[in-house]
Amino acid sequence: MARVAHIADLHLSVDEPIAHGIDLWAHFESVLASIADEGVELVIVGGDLALNEGDPKTYRRIAERLDAFPADVLVQPGNHDRPELFAEAFGRRYRWTGEPLDRVVTWRGFTFVLLDSSSGSVSEEQLWWLESVWRTTHPVAIFVHHPVIAGICRYMEINYELRERDRVYRRIAALADLIHVFSGHYHIAYDGLHNPVLQHVTPAVFYQLDPDTPDFAVASDRAGYRIIDLSPEGISTVVGFAG
Ligand SMILES: [Fe+2]
Repeated sequence: MARVAHIADLHLSVDEPIAHGIDLWAHFESVLASIADEGVELVIVGGDLALNEGDPKTYRRIAERLDAFPADVLVQPGNHDRPELFAEAFGRRYRWTGEPLDRVVTWRGFTFVLLDSSSGSVSEEQLWWLESVWRTTHPVAIFVHHPVIAGICRYMEINYELRERDRVYRRIAALADLIHVFSGHYHIAYDGLHNPVLQHVTPAVFYQLDPDTPDFAVASDRAGYRIIDLSPEGISTVVGFAG
């Protein structure tokens, strides 16, 4: 078995360390302490590392902190990030050529697809790429910042939904009989089967939203994370809150 942490929506900033009355870096530290206690061996940072818009200082500080964390780390961008700045902080594997930072990664024998939705969309070229890597590498899960299913967080779906979300959902749904999709972006904790997509939304490190109102409403200022246990038999996952 292998244990992974998925953390998302850190929304960190060196220049603005407090936002919505929350000490952003303290939230990040509390989540790192919790997932260290859980014995995770890989951390997947699922986008929106930056508060509003990424900057080199903030990414460098995040990278230094993650370098000192006793686990492997993978990073993917969200809509508040600037992927062109990732390589300098997170290494050559994040070298940005103007194309999305899509990746297929095999770790401890488990293959994941990291699909880059930081532009707010997933292009036709990205979906072709996904279909071709799926056939050859048989991934256990897709990690994509934006959720691909509907009806789970009204405010975010009205204002910040993935463009052409249903088209992306249908293409992913055609890949296999059961597809685990791990996302962030909505600042909620959610797990639901939208056959055949098992959509997991990881609660934000920053704060959680009320999923049922069309207006912006913070439901909780607790810092969230997700634990994912991988085994040859399949995936089990649970969300947690720090502190
Ligand atoms: Fe986001």
